[in-house]
Order: sequence, then C-alpha cells, then structure tokens
Amino acid sequence: SRSSIPSWLQGTLLRNGPGLFSVGSSEYNHWFDGMSLIHSFTFTDGEVTYRSKFLKSDTYKRNTQADRIVVSEFGTMIYPDPCKNIFSRAFTHLCNVIPDFTDNNLINIIRYGQDYYASSEVNYMNQIDPTTLETVGRINYRNHIALNLATAHPHYDSEGNTYNMGTAIMGLGRPKYVIFKVPADASDKEQKKPALRKVQQVCSIPFRSTLFPSYYHSFGMTDNYIVFVEQPFKLDIVRLATAYFRGVNWGSCLKFDKDDITLFHVVNRKTGKAVSTRFYGDALVVFHHINAYEDDGHLVFDLITYKDSHLYDMFYIQNMRQETSKFTESNKTFSPPICKRFVLPLNVNKESSKGSNLVTLTDTTARAVMQDNGSVYCQPDTLFEGLELPGINYKFNTKKYRYFYGSRVEWSPHPNKIAKIDIVTRKHIEWRQDSCYPSEPVFVASPGAVEEDDGVILSSVISPDPNISPFMLVLDAKNFKEIARASIPASVHMDLHGLFIPAASGH
Ligand SMILES: [Fe+2]
Repeated sequence: SRSSIPSWLQGTLLRNGPGLFSVGSSEYNHWFDGMSLIHSFTFTDGEVTYRSKFLKSDTYKRNTQADRIVVSEFGTMIYPDPCKNIFSRAFTHLCNVIPDFTDNNLINIIRYGQDYYASSEVNYMNQIDPTTLETVGRINYRNHIALNLATAHPHYDSEGNTYNMGTAIMGLGRPKYVIFKVPADASDKEQKKPALRKVQQVCSIPFRSTLFPSYYHSFGMTDNYIVFVEQPFKLDIVRLATAYFRGVNWGSCLKFDKDDITLFHVVNRKTGKAVSTRFYGDALVVFHHINAYEDDGHLVFDLITYKDSHLYDMFYIQNMRQETSKFTESNKTFSPPICKRFVLPLNVNKESSKGSNLVTLTDTTARAVMQDNGSVYCQPDTLFEGLELPGINYKFNTKKYRYFYGSRVEWSPHPNKIAKIDIVTRKHIEWRQDSCYPSEPVFVASPGAVEEDDGVILSSVISPDPNISPFMLVLDAKNFKEIARASIPASVHMDLHGLFIPAASGH
C-alpha cells in the first residue's frame, strides 16, 4: 500500500456480498444467490490489510458437504431430494406457511450491541468476528422476537442503539410490520449471549392487505419518527407457501401492482403511535432510503425509486454474463433508479383546505395535497437520476443534510462510476477509470470534522482487465480527487454493502 492514505484513518471496512456461484457441477441462477463472502479492509497508520472468508453458514456447510447446491436461494429453487417424501415435505411447509429460509446472509453487516452479523432479509443471521472474519454461529431472530423477515439496513442512533424493522407473517399472531430496537449495551461482557436477547419492540404497523404484505429493503428514521413506505411491490404469501409445490423460486413470489398506491406510514418512535394522517403517493418500487429528517413541521425523506420491479431481473447470471452493449440493448425497458424527495406535512388538520399544497418548505418542489376524504396525496421532487447504493455522512443520519454518495447506474449490472450529489445545487461530481468497477462508496469523516463532506470516500475497485489489480480507493469527499490507492494482491469480488468500524480509541 501507499503511505499517502491519511494516518488518521484507523479502522476496518467490513463488507459482504455474493462470492461463489457454483458448487460441484450445480450453479446458481441469480447473482443475489451466490454464497456470502465476507471481506475486510483494515486501515492502520496509512497501511491497508485485506482479508476475506466465506461465511460458514449452515447453507455453506450443507452445500459443501454435498458438493452441490442443496439449499434454495432467492432465484434458485432446489427441489426436494426425490429419495425423500416430496408430499410430506410440502405438507410440512404448508403447515408452517413460511418455508425455512436459507441462512446464506450475503447482503450487509449489522451491529447489534457489540455483536456483528452477516445479514440478509430473513429470520437467520450469522454472527462473525469482525477481526478474523470467522463465523461465530447462526442466530434466529425468532428466538427473541416474532419475525419471519427483517431488513439488512438498520439504523443506528448517536448512543449506539440499533433500530430495525421486520415482518411477522403468520403463526405469530396478527400479521404486522414490527419496528424494534436493540440497546447499545445489550451484549454481555464475555459475548456469550446475543445482544438480541435485549430486543424491544418500538411499534408495529398492520398490513394493508393480509395476504400481500409489502416487500421492503430499508426504512427511514428521523429524530422522532420512523418512516415506512408500504409500496405496491408485495409478497404473495400463498405463492410463497406453495413455492415448492409449484416449482417456482421465491423471487417469483414478489409482485408489483402498478395500479395500486404507495402508503407512507409515519410512527413516533418514542411513543410508538402512528401519525393519523393517511399519506399516499403513486405506485413505486424502492429498495434504499437515502436519509430522512424533520424540517419546520415537515417530514422529509429521500428514496431511490423505480417505476417497476425489473431491477431484480437484471441480476440473473445469464444477463450479467452478456457484453455490456448487448446487455444495454436487451434491457432498454428497465426503469432507471431515480432519487426522489417526499415531504409530508406533520400538522395536518381537518381545516386544511382541500386541493391545496400543504408543503411550505421553499427548497423543494415536493407537494402534499389535501384530498376531499382527508387523506394527503404526496408528489415527490426529483433529486437525481441514475444512482444506487446510496450512502451519507452517517453523522447526518436523521438530520437535515446536503450530500449523498452512490454508484452511478447507466444500463449495466456493473456500476462503473461513483458520484457525489449536492442536493442544494442539484449538481454532481464523479470518479471513474476505464474498465474499473468501484464498489458502494463509504464516507468516513475526518477527525473533528464540522462540515458534512469533510472526510474521505472509500471504495474497493475491481476490473475485468487482468492488468489492473484490485485496489482500495481513497477519495477526498469534498472534490472526489484521489488521495490514495492501495493495491490488493488478491482477487476481490464485487460486493453489496458494508460497515466501517472505527478502531477503538487509543489504538
Ligand atoms: Fe441494500
């Protein structure tokens, strides 16, 4: 590595993503099915150390032992072993309604208390040692809180508490979305007991439709509120329960209803009470929230939205193997990711005049119009087009902010640029290099930073060109100028999300 990496940058960037797409002679169909490979970039006194290890999930162990894929993933359904009784197995699944999901937790790294977990979106997580990357063991949310699904994108407050959201589908009382909190001090000293044992329910939101709960990948949080977007991109529970029977993968159990509306739920996270106003908007698909905050009696939240649910199709392995030009041609119908700002007025009362825009903020064109029936129809302000994997200076999470970072998406499954968006000027700057694929950019603030963009951007860069070895890129977050790059003498995989863990003070 080079010595020009700032010496104040001390800590470990821990990242997760799919890293193995075949076992023996069997192959996964979809990129989101690949087995989790955890990797880390440890910054110490201007040096970078790279490590990687496969997550030793039950799924990994079972597949490896069988030398073929034996556990179903999102886009790959493995049929029951013909030697076993297919009907009794299917019957078991129907009784349980929800199948036993894979614990191949390939999406993100989550901290609960002082425990770190590889996480996907199901009831299982795998705890990892953030230093050695060894898998500590599997944990089931359901042993602590009644959930079938939970997001891989929690929020953390300034005290270190973790907030997350999950779905309780059936067999667990009334179906609902549940927001929960794990206190910062939930881990015991010897770390023998999981932090989740101290989980507290913050609030719950009933399903709009019992058999069609919304799929969601993240949610928003402000100082006082949780924002949940109940999008018309839904999970078909009956199809999910009978997927084995029908021979369909779980990915096909998601359905986008373009003629439906999107509901915006706002819940006070201190009292657990929902804001009674019914806020809604046009149909959209969202995976990532960027940030949310309160501003002068309004709730402002920014999302990366799509017109439809085709994004998932782009990541079938057969699509990803296509040449970029061919891929571009065959995927012209995919809708691009659009960053949109929604603004909900928090002080709506019955006297508010019908048909009028209730948004009084002057820095946005987002509207919220009172309808005759008392509900409020919200129309967004478009902030930017063509960006995914958003990140911010996390000190500004839940606060009014100006900048976000992300991967530029221009009709390729391999994002080839990273960018910084200025919400005030609506301008953006980029970093790119020929034949290079930078990972999701992660912001790390300079010591004592006051300005929001005083810090660095970290991104691991890979290339299909054998002459370009993978490297860790360090950019000045203010101007996106390269500060340093550290070459990594190992093969690095394209990943999804991660977490920067600052080194303990005194190191
Ligand atoms: Fe994500």
